[in-house]
Amino acid sequence: MRILFIGDIVGRSGRTIVTERLPRLIRDWKLDLVIANGENSAGGFGITEAIYRELIEAGVDAITLGNHAWDQKEALVFIERAPKLIRPLNYPAGTPGRGAALIETKTGARTLVINAMGRIYMDPLDDPFAAIDRELIACPLGSGADAIVIDFHGEATSEKQAMGFFCDGRASLVVGTHTHVPTADLHVLPGGTAFMSDVGMTGDFDSVIGMAAAPPSFTPPPGQPAPTSVDGTPAPTAVPVPLVPGFGGAVDRGLGGLPHAGRRLVDLFVDRVGVCRHGFSLRTCARRGRG
Ligand SMILES: [Fe+2]
Repeated sequence: MRILFIGDIVGRSGRTIVTERLPRLIRDWKLDLVIANGENSAGGFGITEAIYRELIEAGVDAITLGNHAWDQKEALVFIERAPKLIRPLNYPAGTPGRGAALIETKTGARTLVINAMGRIYMDPLDDPFAAIDRELIACPLGSGADAIVIDFHGEATSEKQAMGFFCDGRASLVVGTHTHVPTADLHVLPGGTAFMSDVGMTGDFDSVIGMAAAPPSFTPPPGQPAPTSVDGTPAPTAVPVPLVPGFGGAVDRGLGGLPHAGRRLVDLFVDRVGVCRHGFSLRTCARRGRG
């Protein structure tokens, strides 16, 4: 199974690059499932129903959220009729929507997609570790789902790494979102779970996390920041996941951190994805002297 995770889509520039390029990526990369974080897709703040439908129409199979989940108030209502929209699992009981969803691919494989939010430098929500633990017990990898993908939305890399190891061997992929800055640590954990601290954003990289840059004095401009209007750069992480046992067999970095020219590298990306006979990524395999 080949899963593509697209980092935080920021504003119109992020949406445009996804809607323009995703259909071709699905075809060329033979993707089975596409998951995107869409909490900044509406002008940098939240998501509307129209944008939800636009992204689903472009080929996104599941959309995760985060601390901006409810910035567009309509999300509190339309999430109930948007089965592929997943808000943080560790919101208080009674919060509209769902924190996990079982998404079926075109080939009938079932992928459990979970969204949870960290608590370091973030909102004081319920314990994300306990919440995710309950989901993984209720829907185990292998018997309950063919693959499990967790979007852990948080600020601190340490908390995200802790979540990766907490889920190691029980999830196919754990990726961090929220900081909009990609990390260079995509790898397979000892138990077989693919992990990356943060996949970065899909938006204009000539910006401050997708927003128009502040003046040189670093004094925040008055009013709410707005996304820049320049074309976006996708920050996808492609993870081919074998159906059994469902772990991250081969991983590779996407375009995170590359400037606009990175878009041209999309076509080269798939060539760098590989897996050794032990099921490890080629890079991990070489480091361990295996394969
Ligand atoms: Fe966020």
